[in-house]
Amino acid sequence: MEPTLRLRGIIGNLRGEGGFAFLAKARELKEKGKPVVNLSIGQPDVPTPDPVIEEAVRALSEEKFTGYTETPGIPEIRKAIAEYLNERYGAGVSWEEVVVTPGTKGAIFLALSAYLDHGDEIIVPEPSYPAYPEGAKILGGKPVYVPLEWRGPSKGFGLDLEKIEEAITPRTKFIVVNNPQNPTGALFSPKELEELVEIARKHNVMILADEIYDNFVYDDAEFKSLISMPGWREWLIYTNGFSKTFSMTGWRLGYVVVRKEVAGLLSKIAVSVWGCPVSFAQRAAVRALSDPEVWEWVRKLSKRYAEMRRILYEELSKTPGVEAHLSKGAYYLFPRVKQVEEETGLSTEEIVDYIINNYYLIVLPGGVFPDKAGKDFIRFSFATSREAVSEGGKRFRQAITDLLEKKVHR
Ligand SMILES: Cc1ncc(COP(=O)(O)O)c(C=O)c1O
Repeated sequence: MEPTLRLRGIIGNLRGEGGFAFLAKARELKEKGKPVVNLSIGQPDVPTPDPVIEEAVRALSEEKFTGYTETPGIPEIRKAIAEYLNERYGAGVSWEEVVVTPGTKGAIFLALSAYLDHGDEIIVPEPSYPAYPEGAKILGGKPVYVPLEWRGPSKGFGLDLEKIEEAITPRTKFIVVNNPQNPTGALFSPKELEELVEIARKHNVMILADEIYDNFVYDDAEFKSLISMPGWREWLIYTNGFSKTFSMTGWRLGYVVVRKEVAGLLSKIAVSVWGCPVSFAQRAAVRALSDPEVWEWVRKLSKRYAEMRRILYEELSKTPGVEAHLSKGAYYLFPRVKQVEEETGLSTEEIVDYIINNYYLIVLPGGVFPDKAGKDFIRFSFATSREAVSEGGKRFRQAITDLLEKKVHR
């Protein structure tokens, strides 16, 4: 075999991120002049707030802050993150326990790379954001999927604590907890999180938390951060980032919080992989965390999404054959379309294809989120405009009505 093709076996088994194919489809239809409504996107529809952009520009043009920085981030950003977590969650974090990374994806991969030996397992409640299982696979680890429990349209999804406990083996390193959750929009209750922590402690495994959507919680629902729990240093690897809260997806900034000894070791990995986070983006992120005007912007954004969520939910809940749950967090609705599948004989992918090709509405079949439990669901993002959610919801209702009435079969 040609030397350049002698890749590791696992590389051929990666699933990547299925959602990206649908973005390409949206682009293709737009180029053909079709009136596309895109509800597949997992990022806010607005740019980063102006004060944050201004600070980056200032750091570049005035300060010429263009060189390498410390590997775990400049002290100012580490201190700003610790202060924020302490104020908000009473976490008692010291700034030396914070490691700043290129995106939350970077934070997740860094944590996995520090802990996973070949064959080690991570428990992934599913359907899941792909970065945890895929990251584990890249490193020679093994994702062990445990389906979230579908409790029907009024309650939505929750953690299946019994099945999670059953899945723990001597090789288990982490239980992944993404809360609020992508793709389901689930918000786990304080009680189920406390019970999960009990289970983790009992079996001496860690929790890898990703709370990137913690500023998008609706209807005054109670969000319990794992880092607010006492004794977190003994069982928690905490990740979060700037992408969603401050609409900074392209800036690539996230962070890990772990006990200090481990933070130092994470920096030893990071120095050989990316060296440091982007210098001027760090300056801007300090501004994001410390400027009340920016936080006001975040509150307004979250409030607007709460409204978009209602508008979209109204349409979905009126759609025949569809079980829609009004999710409490992130910016996704994840309705179940099993009845439509049963009545038409179509799979979720085929239903989504019909919607895309006939109504130019881009949504994601739940199956793109590993592993299998999302199969009968469709993910809608409402991080967009009133026109888009309202028109998108209407098109969806019409498309499903077509499928059911005309009995469009494969
Ligand atoms: C649950 C979750 N974690 C992490 C990320 C990635 O965040 P970042 O842009 O900070 O790498 C996303 C992005 O969609 C996400 O949904």
